[in-house]
Amino acid sequence: MNELEVYGLIGEDGFRRLVRAFYAQVPGDDLLGPMYPRDDLAGAEERLREFLIGRFGGPPTYVEKRGHPRLRERHAPFRLDHAARDRWLTLMDRALTEAQLPDGAVTVLRPFFHEVATFLRNA
Ligand code: HEM
Repeated sequence: MNELEVYGLIGEDGFRRLVRAFYAQVPGDDLLGPMYPRDDLAGAEERLREFLIGRFGGPPTYVEKRGHPRLRERHAPFRLDHAARDRWLTLMDRALTEAQLPDGAVTVLRPFFHEVATFLRNA
């Protein structure tokens, strides 16, 4: 499956379930919890969801609202060391399982998350 076909397969609902399952774990996480805006977790959830939807073949809502993602710059305020990277991926791997997405989508999404998380390391 090609990256741009993922949206056609799982739709907005698939991304919604995935990102919700990820953010449901964030507030209780000792490492990641403190990094995220406690009073705007719903906003953070929306940003990640819209980014992923646009990246995988859906409507470009994220870029319309936020412009070019510039993910390295936008993560610069946070200390993304080896432990933070691993923890983020642990939460996302769990979310991928919980969201019960079709194998074709998981096969594309899992390596994508691993690559970007490694690229974002800044400490
Ligand atoms: C490596 C571990 C990571 C950590 C600790 C981390 C942490 C954070 C935090 C604390 C925010 C701010 C929340 C907000 O207000 O939006 C954020 C934003 C964001 N993250 Fe990550 N992140 C990580 C990896 C990733 C990966 C792998 C992706 C993409 C696949 C990603 C995509 C985004 C996006 C799209 C935003 C919103 C940017 C914006 O428009 O402001 N992050 N991240």
